[in-house]
Amino acid sequence: MNISEITRQDMEFINNSLSELDKEKLMGMNVLVTGFAGSLGYTLMHYFLLYGHELGIKKVYGIDSYIFGKPKWVERIAGSDLFDLREMDVITGDFDFAGDADLIFHMASLASPVFYRKYPIETIDADVTGLRRLLDYYKQKPIKGFLFYSSSEIYGDPHPSQIPTSEEYWGNTNTVGPRACYDESKRFGETLCYNFARQYDMPITVVRPFNNYGPGMRINDQRVVADFAKAIINREDIVIYSNGKPTRTFDYIADATVGYIKCVLYGEFDVFNIGSDYPEITILELAELYQAIGKEQFEYDRKIVFQIHSDKEYLVDNPNRRCPDITKARKLLQYEPVIHVEQGVQRYLEYLKNSDRDEYEW
Ligand SMILES: NC(=O)c1ccc[n+]([C@@H]2O[C@H](COP(=O)([O-])OP(=O)(O)OC[C@H]3O[C@@H](n4cnc5c(N)ncnc54)[C@H](O)[C@@H]3O)[C@@H](O)[C@H]2O)c1
Repeated sequence: MNISEITRQDMEFINNSLSELDKEKLMGMNVLVTGFAGSLGYTLMHYFLLYGHELGIKKVYGIDSYIFGKPKWVERIAGSDLFDLREMDVITGDFDFAGDADLIFHMASLASPVFYRKYPIETIDADVTGLRRLLDYYKQKPIKGFLFYSSSEIYGDPHPSQIPTSEEYWGNTNTVGPRACYDESKRFGETLCYNFARQYDMPITVVRPFNNYGPGMRINDQRVVADFAKAIINREDIVIYSNGKPTRTFDYIADATVGYIKCVLYGEFDVFNIGSDYPEITILELAELYQAIGKEQFEYDRKIVFQIHSDKEYLVDNPNRRCPDITKARKLLQYEPVIHVEQGVQRYLEYLKNSDRDEYEW
């Protein structure tokens, strides 16, 4: 299976966006990535596949339970001697095989709302118990960085005065609604990180990603960015399961990955929003963007329709607006997202167009 041209370009983009100092810090590192087979894992793992040796990375360990199945692309990276990938649950697994990891990316979770509502306890376990096990395991080891993937969802449904939302905002979340398994376990995960960092002097950083999309996201993921891509690929109508008015900003995964790598290398406790701060668009505008780009790239000619989702809780506690203030990441990490949503959607659809179906559908 060949690596798509879009993915090659994205990895080159990541490599060009990291500073020489970032790259120096990666030299000689052993890396552990939990949940490596997910949407964000695709890009991080391909970056290590294409640039790991050049960067002087010694080993990349990966853990994933393949709860959604094993992606085909994993076979491609598993062939490289850089990787040691294990089918393992972070709740029960033995981390000894990755005992010499210097940098840990803890991504394992269930990030799609449809799936975390279906598997709420597993979601809580990955973000709380799995995180706690990793922190306990690495607390006495000389690690250089530990990155916990929290979420913009910890902000819940912010008051309009808190848009764009900065890291200082404490959030507005429901502890007992259908989204609480995700929002509250991310919040408690952050609290675990804060206390382990203080008590054991661990270099833990927390990242709050804001709505990523792009290659690596399987079209059955059921987040809106994947649903719309699936409609284009299958030549079906684009279905919106709300009134189309909630707004979001969207960050192309390669752009965000630059931020995640900078976060893991930060080396001390802090919390960063990573996302794009413009344009904040409605879900209907996003659908129209997919429709227009689909027309150019696929001669797509279907409609946008509004329907009620079969999951009755689809819209319960759904935030009205989501837009990050990334001043802090700009200042402390020199993080600057540059891929506009129009270009990102073009790239995502181009990647789907030129890839085998089993590369993005499982
Ligand atoms: N993608 C986004 O826009 C976004 C936004 C906010 C936060 N995040 C966070 O970033 C991280 C990665 O997101 P993603 O979009 O790649 O998620 P994803 O749902 O696409 O993938 C998560 C991966 O974790 C694995 N996993 C789940 N539970 C596990 C367990 N107990 N043990 C081992 N593996 C397990 C799954 O098999 C899957 O491969 C998650 O923690 C997510 O909450 C992502």
